[in-house]
Amino acid sequence: MRKDLGRLVDAAREAVCRAYAPYSRLRVGAAVLTAKGNIYTGVNVENASYGLTVCAERAAIFAAVAQEGPEMRLQALAVVSDAAGACPPCGACRQVIFEFGPDATVIFQGRDGLEEIPIARLLPGAFSLQ
Ligand code: THU
Repeated sequence: MRKDLGRLVDAAREAVCRAYAPYSRLRVGAAVLTAKGNIYTGVNVENASYGLTVCAERAAIFAAVAQEGPEMRLQALAVVSDAAGACPPCGACRQVIFEFGPDATVIFQGRDGLEEIPIARLLPGAFSLQ
């Protein structure tokens, strides 16, 4: 794995402890590498009204937009959890990753270690207005 992607996974792992997940008890951490070379992290934030929960990936992407503005583009995103099982991005997060990085690399905790897969392969036929 590229060295900067290793750093990205480390950042996602480091973020996990800040997740707010009192309902599912699944703590998730994500980190994005932007086209400018910056790293931003996010965690899942749950709510007593369950549907208001925000996933770690979207929290990280929105933090990146908040810092870099609407031109922010993703090179890569890493997502991990504190559980033993696989933690691939959910369908909603795949669509949001695609919006900001149609060529982005996604790294996630698979069943047998880390997997590195382009977003276009994780979300074939993604919705786009262009
Ligand atoms: N979760 C994420 O943070 N990312 C995903 O891609 C899938 C699910 C979170 C949401 C919720 O807080 C917990 O995992 C259980 O669904």
